[in-house]
Amino acid sequence: MPSPLPRPPTRRAALRLIVGCTALAMSPLAGLAQTGPVGQPLKIATIGAGREGGALGTLFVKAGHPVMFSSRHPEQLKDLVAGLGPLAQAGTVAEAIAFGEVVLLVVPYPAVPEIGKEYASALAAKALVIDVSNPIARRDGEDIVKWVDEQGGAGLATAKALPGAHLVRAFNAIGSARLAELAHRPGEPAGIPIAGDDQNALALAARLIKEIGFEPVVVGGLAMGKYLVPGTPLAPVHTPEEIRQIAATLK
Ligand SMILES: NC(=O)c1ccc[n+]([C@@H]2O[C@H](COP(=O)([O-])OP(=O)(O)OC[C@H]3O[C@@H](n4cnc5c(N)ncnc54)[C@H](OP(=O)(O)O)[C@@H]3O)[C@@H](O)[C@H]2O)c1
Repeated sequence: MPSPLPRPPTRRAALRLIVGCTALAMSPLAGLAQTGPVGQPLKIATIGAGREGGALGTLFVKAGHPVMFSSRHPEQLKDLVAGLGPLAQAGTVAEAIAFGEVVLLVVPYPAVPEIGKEYASALAAKALVIDVSNPIARRDGEDIVKWVDEQGGAGLATAKALPGAHLVRAFNAIGSARLAELAHRPGEPAGIPIAGDDQNALALAARLIKEIGFEPVVVGGLAMGKYLVPGTPLAPVHTPEEIRQIAATLK
């Protein structure tokens, strides 16, 4: 774990340092889950602040990070942010992307390629985009689910929609209503299976997931994102060890 910096660095320099040092400490890949919190607050943006985006952003505020919640209707997020204190604010999607060092993408899946068309290059400049979005046929339609399948599943499809983004899939099957109760639960932490191809992004995601009270478990690259959706063996809440055992049976 990196030691405290001798003098306050710029936020960008601090982020590079955190990511770099955490990455050094995280080989082999499975060891990522051991990456500990570093403590430097990071500006976090949520694209989508409904049930899941609202609940996840709330956990990050409670962990001490400034969070900008966003949607196409930021005026509807006033009550959410008012209840969370000075670390929380609401904005447009563009404002949130400009604000965040880390972005949580928590939207119905058809919005992912839409967002990519407008914001892919801005998102590619972020150290980490956590993709929580799932393609669900009954909600999103068969066409998008077919397109996602053709790309090799949700992880690779999001990578296609957001070229260059440092993506990690996470939190895809933990219901919004259970997030607060499972965070920092007594005894063994709840495991969060995560998948990504970028080791620095995985390390940063692991740090943030631990800070909000879960245990990240890297299950593989973005191709494994196809299992990080509701209805797969990894979807129910598991201990970290259970996730490792289940992931070993999947390819
Ligand atoms: N709910 C859960 O328990 C849960 C758990 C795990 C994963 N997920 C996944 O998380 C995603 C969101 O689910 P949810 O239940 O939170 O949905 P939700 O309550 O309906 O919220 C969706 C959010 O996305 C925003 N949004 C929709 N289209 C957008 C666009 N084109 N650009 C920007 N923002 C857009 C909506 O705001 P505006 O309409 O105001 O723009 C809203 O804030 C889904 O993919 C879901 O499968 C949900």
